[in-house]
Amino acid sequence: MAVRKAVIPAAGLGTRVLPATKAVPKELLPLADTPTIQYIVEEAAASGIEQITFVTSRTKRALEDHFDAAPELRAALEAKGADARLAAIDRAETLASYSFVRQRRPLGLGHAVLCAQANVGDETFGVLLGDDLVDNDADPCLKQLIRVHERYGGCVLAVMRVPHNDVSRYGVVSLGEQVEPGVHRVTDLVEKPAVDEAPSDLIVIGRYVLTPNIFAALEQTPPGAGGEIQLTDALRALIHAGTRVFACEFRGRRYDTGDPVGLLTTSIAFALKRPDLAPGVIAYLKTLRLD
Ligand code: G1P
Repeated sequence: MAVRKAVIPAAGLGTRVLPATKAVPKELLPLADTPTIQYIVEEAAASGIEQITFVTSRTKRALEDHFDAAPELRAALEAKGADARLAAIDRAETLASYSFVRQRRPLGLGHAVLCAQANVGDETFGVLLGDDLVDNDADPCLKQLIRVHERYGGCVLAVMRVPHNDVSRYGVVSLGEQVEPGVHRVTDLVEKPAVDEAPSDLIVIGRYVLTPNIFAALEQTPPGAGGEIQLTDALRALIHAGTRVFACEFRGRRYDTGDPVGLLTTSIAFALKRPDLAPGVIAYLKTLRLD
């Protein structure tokens, strides 16, 4: 069956970007004029996803508004003949169908995914984490993972190599046999290991294709790293119970928008891709004396 559902966990407090995130969900912080979450939803839709479940929390109501109809705004833009802006707001509304569930307590990423169980049901689904943007318009990252799932079944994780000293910020995989160039079986994985205990330099980024047996595994998963229920630990349990999990070295550039420097540099990178914004940004950058 085609992968047509995705879960976007968006319940985190965004403490790395305070004070901006005190009253504004971090997912709505913009890259120039477009919230980061919209790029994530664009990737999902371009990967064939039709139904998205956002897992939110008490301070995230504005996310629902961003993806809702906005009749007053629409009328005002129509009256002005502001067609491009009208198209931009219509786009967010129509990329997929959306539902929102609450994670009532901050119990971790694994728990957030489990909160979406009723919406996902018994289907293989995608998960996209909002801090990770992958730039590849021609072949979106989630679509690459879905193709691997279509060929081999099982769960699929997007992985990339990072400098060894950075591994302890991520889930880290141990690779088994290569099934095709850039795609390996995962034999084990560990969440945020100490640098000298990490099994490799290959880390999991925020894109997954998960089979629905992940929910039963999550129900059994005790709190792990940071005292949180970790998706990594549930995947590890699935591997040990015989589910096939694959690591896909995706093609595309990954940006981390979860901290101020990442947000700023990603904003510049994405503005430089926009014909309407690039000239002004380049003109400014040229005035900087950076040495
Ligand atoms: C989460 C996952 C981790 C993964 C990372 C990717 O961590 O738990 O395995 O490597 O996303 O961004 P978090 O960033 O929520 O601490």
